[in-house]
Amino acid sequence: MNFIPSILFILSLIVSNSIASSIITQSQSFSDGEIIVSSKGLFEFGFFSIKDPNKRYVCIRFKNISTQNVVWVANDGKPINDYSAVLKLNSSGSLVLTHNNNVVWFTNSSTKAQKPVAQLLDNGNLVIKEDSVSKTYLWQSFDYPSNTLLADMKLGWDLKRNLSKCLKAWKSDDDPTPGNFTWCVVLNPYPDIYMMKGEKKYHRLGPWNGLRFSGMPEMKPNPVFSYKFVYNKEEVYYSWSFNDSSLISTVVLNQTSYQRPRYVWSKAEESWMLYSRMPGDYCDLYSLCGVNGYCSSTNSPICECLNGFKPNFPEKWNSMDWSDGCVRNHQLNCINEGFVSVPNLKIPDTKNTSVDHDESIGLEQCRAKCLKICSCMAYTNTNISGAGSGCVMWFGDLIDIKFIPLGGQVLYIRMPASELDDEHRRNLRKKVLIVVFAALGMLLLAIYFFYRFRRRSVVGTSKSEGDYERHENDMDLPLLNLSTIIIATDNFSEKNKIGEGGFGAVYLGKLGSGLEIAVKRLSQSSKQGMGEFINEVKLIANVQHRNLVKLIGCCIQRHEKLLVYEYMSNGSLDYFIFDHTRSQLLDWPKRFHIICGIARGLMYLHQDSRLRIIHRDLKTSNVLLDDTMNPKISDFGMARTFGGNQIEGNTNIIVGTYGYMAPEYAIDGQFSVKSDVFSFGVLILEIICGKKNRVRYRAKQTLNLVAYAWTFWKHERALQIIDSNIEDSSIVSEVSRCIHVALLCVQQYPEDRPTMADVILMLGSEMSLDEPKEPGFIKRRESIEANSSSSRKDISSNYELTITSLSVR
Ligand SMILES: *[C@@H]1O[C@H](CO)[C@@H](O)[C@H](O)[C@H]1NC(C)=O
Ligand SMILES: *[C@@H]1O[C@H](CO)[C@@H](O)[C@H](O)[C@H]1NC(C)=O
Ligand SMILES: *[C@@H]1O[C@H](CO)[C@@H](O)[C@H](O)[C@H]1NC(C)=O
Ligand SMILES: *[C@@H]1O[C@H](CO)[C@@H](O)[C@H](O)[C@H]1NC(C)=O
Ligand SMILES: *[C@@H]1O[C@H](CO)[C@@H](O)[C@H](O)[C@H]1NC(C)=O
Ligand SMILES: *[C@@H]1O[C@H](CO)[C@@H](O)[C@H](O)[C@H]1NC(C)=O
Ligand SMILES: *[C@@H]1O[C@H](CO)[C@@H](O)[C@H](O)[C@H]1NC(C)=O
Ligand SMILES: *[C@@H]1O[C@H](CO)[C@@H](O)[C@H](O)[C@H]1NC(C)=O
Ligand SMILES: *[C@@H]1O[C@H](CO)[C@@H](O)[C@H](O)[C@H]1NC(C)=O
Repeated sequence: MNFIPSILFILSLIVSNSIASSIITQSQSFSDGEIIVSSKGLFEFGFFSIKDPNKRYVCIRFKNISTQNVVWVANDGKPINDYSAVLKLNSSGSLVLTHNNNVVWFTNSSTKAQKPVAQLLDNGNLVIKEDSVSKTYLWQSFDYPSNTLLADMKLGWDLKRNLSKCLKAWKSDDDPTPGNFTWCVVLNPYPDIYMMKGEKKYHRLGPWNGLRFSGMPEMKPNPVFSYKFVYNKEEVYYSWSFNDSSLISTVVLNQTSYQRPRYVWSKAEESWMLYSRMPGDYCDLYSLCGVNGYCSSTNSPICECLNGFKPNFPEKWNSMDWSDGCVRNHQLNCINEGFVSVPNLKIPDTKNTSVDHDESIGLEQCRAKCLKICSCMAYTNTNISGAGSGCVMWFGDLIDIKFIPLGGQVLYIRMPASELDDEHRRNLRKKVLIVVFAALGMLLLAIYFFYRFRRRSVVGTSKSEGDYERHENDMDLPLLNLSTIIIATDNFSEKNKIGEGGFGAVYLGKLGSGLEIAVKRLSQSSKQGMGEFINEVKLIANVQHRNLVKLIGCCIQRHEKLLVYEYMSNGSLDYFIFDHTRSQLLDWPKRFHIICGIARGLMYLHQDSRLRIIHRDLKTSNVLLDDTMNPKISDFGMARTFGGNQIEGNTNIIVGTYGYMAPEYAIDGQFSVKSDVFSFGVLILEIICGKKNRVRYRAKQTLNLVAYAWTFWKHERALQIIDSNIEDSSIVSEVSRCIHVALLCVQQYPEDRPTMADVILMLGSEMSLDEPKEPGFIKRRESIEANSSSSRKDISSNYELTITSLSVR
């Protein structure tokens, strides 16, 4: 254009030679030819299409990833319909995109720059700087997020510039125009993060409480991700990052599913794996239970009024329309009032709050402050880290409270004097119970460790013991009276007996309230009963999911050890699928629903619950069905828990059932989440075929189900194995996908098998799947058969010996 800039251009070319292709210098212009610049890291900036090849966008995307790779779009909403657009960094430091001489998009930089450069940084941030050495940015793409939050990006506010950085979902998968679904930090007195559908609040993450967001208990310190929430006069933002920079992950706002999934790139699978998502369940939907109500996903129905409150319109409330919420039983009058503490909550919407972050303020002072103000409804600490500090007070109704059994917070709610008396009595009773239970618990623990040490002579102590200690306090299980249970089960009468579980008989009971329960009476002779009992009670008390059987309470009295579960009216899955008549009740859609439910329950055990739990005895008789045929996994009495990274273990006692056991578990006692995956694979095949996977270890035998399915699969006739009862209702693509997934699960080597998270992804999508390798157990049998008769006898009897000595059942 004129003389000086072109000299500068040449100069800056020389200067930027070393950083080569990540830099755009002034007056350089680029026309559509795909890549403009490429960072040293994972990203590139250029002209790309998203789905429709006739719509060109200037984007930042992942270099090496071919799906869902676009992380930022410049001209969103203004696609260019040919290849003739030009991008240029003009002399005043603006990137300008022109098409047919019309400016389509440009960056605003307020400062006049001398030798501006634009650079794509390694973390995917496109920045414009005054010159190539400057450390400050005149403009940066991270200030204008699209639908994706990358590591190091800030979601929140630059208060000095009055600039809010929000995620905005794309209108649709092929149209990056910002839709009306957004995720923003909101500057309430106590900042919060809302997901908005248009003008309506859709989900609220809860404020940062010093450790995590109040509504996201799973966000705890871990060696992989680190999370940060910064709150000062200049900035308020959330950001996350990786410890290991070779990992790739994105947080994406999605208007199709109205969710905010986090994906992690799997290099092995070359695909995105779903890592977590928000909202996670119904209770995450904003204010589902109305004002002064709270939501608990393990309750049925899920909404309840807070203690001291009653439904505003009882009829509507009882018909499950909770929108009108709850009102106080007794009005407040500001005389002799006090507070009740309600633990395990996501704290309410912070719009009408007043906050003091002063670290010297403790709970007592906060309480005193709140008590003095008649309209103060509730209070708690703003920072629950350490002893707790800071003070937040609520005014007006309490909205959007979720019950979070693990990792929730305490909220102190104002109550009139009349309610407090009741509360006081209740507390007293609770305290007595706690004392009694603590004494019993100590006794049990002593016995438990006694047995444990006797049993575990070789195996070193695992991390899980530490976990038991720490989670001790989490146990909040109702203790039921033995006499109550005796009445409920008609003194364990034979006619009430509904099954014989792993460690004893199961009885149907009916409590005074009419609630039906299943009582598991642990057999007194069982040597390992006590340890297992404690194990099970603690695990199950802490682990709740809609596809897991819920533990209602327990009873340890006289010589009885009893576990009380919710009753599943339809019994277990084997009762249906292995019976030719009853299996007609389960058409393909129901079976598919059951398969997916079991997968979700198992994934929860493996990775989403706070403890990592390996079931170790997954089988059809351990899958119970509720009255609408929803599957729930039962009997995790034999599961072991692992803290942190320990995902494999070695055991000297093998539990489990032949036919479902993975080879490495049955033979070497090696168990891991992958041995559960094996059992799950067998389960899928059984559900599809309506046949049991019988495994006999004698050489002469008919093929077992896994081998049978494998043989048909190899000959591309997999669909011939399905139960004749589902032939009419089956959807071919779904059935064959399930068989394919099942065969991936039963592969011989654990490392080849997918994780349950992969399985769920596979079942729920159309993605292409790997070819399964040969299943476990087949090779061994063939090699046995191949041997000469004399040595065969040897091997097979040895083999049998191993198996029997492993048996404990
Ligand atoms: C991108 O892929 C190529 C070949 O597939 C590989 O050589 C290169 O290392 C990859 N780059 C990154 C940053 O992963
Ligand atoms: C650079 O582009 C911006 C945005 O289009 C414009 O406001 C500015 O005047 C341009 N500067 C020059 C020197 O052309
Ligand atoms: C540039 O600034 C104007 C006015 O301040 C604003 O309307 C426009 O959205 C800004 N454009 C970009 C790309 O930031
Ligand atoms: C920030 O911007 C909004 C509009 O975008 C305006 O309503 C508000 O007054 C501004 N705040 C300050 C402190 O400038
Ligand atoms: C949104 O989610 C749907 C299905 O859950 C998926 O197919 C789609 O690719 C996602 N869109 C984006 C932009 O991530
Ligand atoms: C959001 O946008 C979608 C599609 O663009 C539309 O169907 C929906 O009604 C909008 N919702 C609101 C609350 O504006
Ligand atoms: C990051 O990882 C390294 C080793 O991988 C570890 O030593 C360090 O403690 C980790 N840092 C955090 C903050 O987790
Ligand atoms: C805040 O208070 C106002 C007035 O009392 C009320 O209308 C509004 O619903 C409250 N909002 C929240 C989120 O508590
Ligand atoms: C919360 O409290 C802990 C311990 O007292 C302190 O280290 C931390 O800085 C506090 N966090 C905030 C955000 O104030």
